[in-house]
Amino acid sequence: MSADDRTQKLAQIAQQVKACTACRLYQNTRNPVPGHGNIHAEIMFIGEAPGEQEDIKGLPFVGRSGQYLDYLLNLIGMSRSQVFIANVVKHRPPDNRDPAPDEIIACKHFLDEQIAIIDPLLIVTLGRFSMARYFPDAKISTIHGKPKYDERMAYYPLYHPAAALRNPMLRHDMEADIKRIPSILDEVRQKRRNIIITPSGDKPESDAPPKQLPLF
Ligand code: URA
Repeated sequence: MSADDRTQKLAQIAQQVKACTACRLYQNTRNPVPGHGNIHAEIMFIGEAPGEQEDIKGLPFVGRSGQYLDYLLNLIGMSRSQVFIANVVKHRPPDNRDPAPDEIIACKHFLDEQIAIIDPLLIVTLGRFSMARYFPDAKISTIHGKPKYDERMAYYPLYHPAAALRNPMLRHDMEADIKRIPSILDEVRQKRRNIIITPSGDKPESDAPPKQLPLF
């Protein structure tokens, strides 16, 4: 998909999120928080729901959890300009309560569409609610830091940054888990290289020139 198509489709989703009344969450919010980042991101981070700062700014992970996420990215030499960040629900739940199952279901198609457009190599889930999309019934304390692979993607469950901020005991695990991301990416790149060889002998995507970093 061309960069223009990606940008346009992501903008359409943002418009639909803005107009969405499919669940109660849009009521009493200041802004929708559809998601933000690099339209060619290799990594998509999926959190839970916007908090107060996100609701004010209309952007994901811009409060304390976001600062910690920036710190974690920095540990592997990355910045948020290289990744795409979204949430399971796109409007702030009142008083930061957990999103309800019907709210998650009502919002699911937006996230599914964003993932299909970005087509990342790696989906990093932050906390239980995004983990449940790919690891139903799993316990985060058991599976954090253990990637699951399919033919063209990896799914990597991490603690939520807010949990690590609340409980310093988790920070060691969180930081060790983040540091495995480069090797997981390499593994997925290798898998894709193996499946993208076409009968016409076209170059695999990974041999193409480096991607630019347009942000949506
Ligand atoms: N916590 C989340 O799960 N998402 C945000 O965007 C901010 C905090």
